Amino acid sequence: MCGIVGYIGYQDVKEILLRGLEKLEYRGYDSAGIAVLNENGVHVFKEKGRIADLRRIVDPNVKATIGIGHTRWATHGAPSRVNAHPHQSASGRFTLVHNGVIENYEMLKRDYLADVEFRSDTDTEVIVQLVEQFVRDGLTTEEAFRQTLSLLKGSYAIAMIDAENEETLYAAKNKSPLLAGLGDGFNVVASDAMAMLQVTNQFVELMDGEMVIVTSENVTIQTLNGETVERKPFTAELDASDIEKGTYPHYMLKEIDEQPFVTRRIIQKYQDEHGGLTIDQAIINEVLNADRLYIVACGTSYHAGLVGKQLIESWAKIPVEVHIASEFSYNMPLLSEKPLFLFISQSGETADSRAVLVQTNKLGHKAITITNVPGSTLSREADYTLLLHAGPEIAVASTKAYTAQIAVLAILAATAAKAKGLELDFDLTKELAIVANVMEMLCDAKEEMENIARDYLTLTRNCFFIGRAVDYYVCLEGALKLKEISYIQAEGFAGGELKHGTIALIEDGTPVIALATQEHVNLSIRGNVKEVVARGANPCVISMRGLEGDGDRFVIPAVHPDLTSLVSVVPLQLIAYYAALHRGCDVDKPRNLAKSVTVE
Ligand code: F6R
Repeated sequence: MCGIVGYIGYQDVKEILLRGLEKLEYRGYDSAGIAVLNENGVHVFKEKGRIADLRRIVDPNVKATIGIGHTRWATHGAPSRVNAHPHQSASGRFTLVHNGVIENYEMLKRDYLADVEFRSDTDTEVIVQLVEQFVRDGLTTEEAFRQTLSLLKGSYAIAMIDAENEETLYAAKNKSPLLAGLGDGFNVVASDAMAMLQVTNQFVELMDGEMVIVTSENVTIQTLNGETVERKPFTAELDASDIEKGTYPHYMLKEIDEQPFVTRRIIQKYQDEHGGLTIDQAIINEVLNADRLYIVACGTSYHAGLVGKQLIESWAKIPVEVHIASEFSYNMPLLSEKPLFLFISQSGETADSRAVLVQTNKLGHKAITITNVPGSTLSREADYTLLLHAGPEIAVASTKAYTAQIAVLAILAATAAKAKGLELDFDLTKELAIVANVMEMLCDAKEEMENIARDYLTLTRNCFFIGRAVDYYVCLEGALKLKEISYIQAEGFAGGELKHGTIALIEDGTPVIALATQEHVNLSIRGNVKEVVARGANPCVISMRGLEGDGDRFVIPAVHPDLTSLVSVVPLQLIAYYAALHRGCDVDKPRNLAKSVTVE
């Protein structure tokens, strides 16, 4: 959701900015722009739509070595060329890009900028106009930038250039992600390392409330009080090939196919010297010390949390509640005496989850973040981090992060169980290795999944997913995958709940995808299938080997009954992928969605 890049150095900046923005496309956006500065002044190019549309309007003859770029996901003001960033101050001297939401922008407009004519509907324009106002009042650009930042309430990552100074780029961060990147004779800023991996793998983290003065030789981090902050750079452990599609037509398909590899990498990363799986003892101590775990997450990560609850409760016998982050913030449940919080977030940047973490930190409760992104906000602000090791997830629809989250939660549950003397009667390492092999077989079953998508979902306007026990949780995820990328209205239901209302929606030919991987509810879910068939539904049963029945459309090779969610989701991901593909949808960048949801 919104992405920022900035470069100052010696190379022609246009291509670096455009390529950087392309790497941020996965975050979701609806317009984009760049501004470059040379001896003739600032040149701004912005366009509604894709980076490819922006490329078409960038003048190839303009050469510059300093510039900023932005992908916008509209919050204040419709997606349009006028509202796209960069925004300029009234005189055109200052040009700025911003990611986040300025909560007090109306008040700032009224109190400081009553005489200024605004060109856009954005909250962002206030920032750049304020800088100009303070410079007019006699401050230097640096002082005016700092003064402006001290007035802003809300979230921001900002990059700004001054037409009167080709030697300096200004940046700042509060709650929204921003990194500085270091090079030889150049320096950069970017919302994430991927955007600038093309020129460097050395980055410096920026903390909330910091501003940065960037020249081609130096990156100077300061607090808003003007104190200089020293911070060591880190090497981004990303391989440029991790963020390429290679021969795949879509990132989503590549990422679905990566799941067996990710599961094996998780086994390897969490293995102890005896070949067992383990979690840092300090984390396990916190888990054992708690009387209740609270899992907080959004979307797909929330769905992984539901599976995690079942694993932790049944293996480690610790009560777990799972909460949607955006609800928890405003409707906090009564907490137990010794709560421990578990934040699950692929990106580690989700604003709704972060808002809860801020609250629980204030209350003094301990927190663990399970994330794919080391150094992300949720990772930094929690007491402990468990990494997913899934590699960059670029497609907006989350796939490999979901299974990685469940695998890590399983290892956490098993380690906590062991620490309580509740040994599992199976070898988790071995069972996860079997899971990885079965995932591979399912990834090879693309043709069958494409046929299911074609037979059931080509013409339909809706689709139901039903399951019981853990299959119900996977159905919620299967329905989310289908609706977000194919725009078919899809809902996941507990099999037994349909007859309490939803069955009224079943008509002749309504597709109902049923999961049957759990022996103790196999008869009941098959009864539920009969109920919908009697009302005209077109059923597609996906079962597990050993539990299959006549007419099942697909049978998944057997895995341990507690780990079925890791494999049963794969056919659902593939069905969603092919349904979207056949309907001509933009699989990797579905409408209205962003990969990293950094606004509440
Ligand atoms: C759906 C999807 C979203 C995310 C949700 C939370 O495919 O990707 O539902 O799961 O926005 O994002 P993270 O996990 O980054 O906190």
